[in-house]
Amino acid sequence: MNAIKISKMIFGCRLFNQSRSVLGFIKSPNSNRSLHISLPRFLGLRCAINQTHKQYYVSHPKWGRSRVFPATCCSSSNNNSNKNDHISDYSTTLENHANDKNFETSYMQGGGDLDEHACRTETEVEKEAWRLLRDSVVTYCGNPVGTLAACDPGDKTPLNYDQVFIRDFVPSALAFLLKGEGEIVRNFLLHTLQLQSWEKTVDCYSPGQGLMPASFKIRTVPLDDTKFEEVLDPDFGESAIGRVAPVDSGLWWIILLRAYTKITGDYAMQERVDVQTGIKLILNLCLSDGFDMFPSLLVTDGSCMIDRRMGIHGHPLEIQSLFYSALRCAREMLATDEGSKNLMRTVNNRLSALSFHIREYYWLDMKKINEIYRYKTEEYSTEAINKFNIYPEQIPYWLMDWIPAEGGYMIGNLQPAHMDFRFFTLGNIWSIVSSLSTPKQNNSILNLLESKWDDLVGDMPLKIVYPAVEKEEWRIITGSDPKNTPWSYHNGGSWPTLLWQMGRIELARKAVDVAEKRLYADHWPEYYDTKSGKFIGKQSRMYQTWTIAGYLTSKMLLENPEKASLLYWEEDYDLLEICVCALSKTGRKLCARGAAKSQILV
Ligand code: GLC
Repeated sequence: MNAIKISKMIFGCRLFNQSRSVLGFIKSPNSNRSLHISLPRFLGLRCAINQTHKQYYVSHPKWGRSRVFPATCCSSSNNNSNKNDHISDYSTTLENHANDKNFETSYMQGGGDLDEHACRTETEVEKEAWRLLRDSVVTYCGNPVGTLAACDPGDKTPLNYDQVFIRDFVPSALAFLLKGEGEIVRNFLLHTLQLQSWEKTVDCYSPGQGLMPASFKIRTVPLDDTKFEEVLDPDFGESAIGRVAPVDSGLWWIILLRAYTKITGDYAMQERVDVQTGIKLILNLCLSDGFDMFPSLLVTDGSCMIDRRMGIHGHPLEIQSLFYSALRCAREMLATDEGSKNLMRTVNNRLSALSFHIREYYWLDMKKINEIYRYKTEEYSTEAINKFNIYPEQIPYWLMDWIPAEGGYMIGNLQPAHMDFRFFTLGNIWSIVSSLSTPKQNNSILNLLESKWDDLVGDMPLKIVYPAVEKEEWRIITGSDPKNTPWSYHNGGSWPTLLWQMGRIELARKAVDVAEKRLYADHWPEYYDTKSGKFIGKQSRMYQTWTIAGYLTSKMLLENPEKASLLYWEEDYDLLEICVCALSKTGRKLCARGAAKSQILV
């Protein structure tokens, strides 16, 4: 009993005494470091499982082994009937609880008004997918909080695939939301929010405070001889292969929060003080000043879906598109009060600069390649045409043949004297979704997707990146990674989870048809190998949750295009007007943006 009391006390200290000095939003009392050091690095010391209660086992027909769930939960605080008590406990909320009640009645408990699919009988494949998705749900103190990355019964070394990944949960969350089941998403958002404040260190060094973990696990730890408790154990990269900070996690968290709000109508959620603080912490981390000359985010290799070395350090498109999307979401959700005025201005300025930068310098089509082909190099001046000193010799041979007369795309990365000409699907799709690219560019990307169907979809949608790096390039770029061999895994493998993000309806339908025929029969693999995606991936997990959820989400979005449109952003014409450098006003110099002869701003 004592132990529980102490744990609770410590937990309270951790959450409330930790310094959160975002833009003066919450004052920062000194945290008690010695207290933290003596603690196990687990969060959530609320949920004790009495050992005298039997745990029960649920066997999965296909698994041949059992999974364990706690039979009851938990510590005294959780015994009462209100499931969300343990969540709202931790926060001061701006919302009025009557709102919450209405919301719960109309959406969560009643299954939402979104379950229009109930009208249509689900196919056998969909039924199986739903069963598997539900089986992957993990609970914390009896409440659903996320889905495991994979539930592959044949996998004897799951590594971290038995964890809830932030990015992997997004398609699961959307599937549940579209089905009218918002509770799991709400719980996920609020629990991961607590993890954000976790004090994390790698070899005595602490990364920024707003960082969201890549994944978390629910562990059961003994309190004493008879009692256990469930704890959330996050991984911020300190255990992850390669020790990379997941830059995309916080961005996905913001994107998911907005999707949750839009689909459920639970606006009280985004107004909560803790949620507002969480958004600000993430923004603060992303918007902090550094040595950069560009508005794009500078990151290390492997900081996103491609979470190991693939030559995408620097300013990879995937991060820029998610960054832009998250900024647009945050701008919509931030409370418009005195306290966030400056932040809002910073967000607007960054959005404007980032969209210009990407539209102008990442865009590639026939015309642009021809320009690069004839570039002069070693230009020294602010008026240089070839600003990044790209040597035309860098244009790869495959690209000269590959680029269609119509259509274009955003390149994968831009660095001094380096353009990564590979086509990265997620980054391109999210630049469409968020209107980071112009309406004309969006259309061109979709045209390219259509004209390069065999390369980007082939036997299984969608290629994570095209083309693969091979031979010497593979050795140097991947560090001779045996998992990332040419046309496998991150190096040109095909990832069905990308399916739900596909933009144009007729393309998405065609792609779902291709995937549907195989996914069920192949036991929902994580990825496929070979140029056309013919084989199940060499080291691919089966029953990969985001493959399953991605399929379900694609189907539901196709059936509810109006719901899909809630997740998209229109072009923001005001952003195009903002020019923050003030050069043109001083008349001293011409602003580069103003001077750009770009035809692509609108
Ligand atoms: C792989 C993927 C990563 C994913 C994880 C769990 O590491 O590259 O994007 O989050 O598996 O599925």
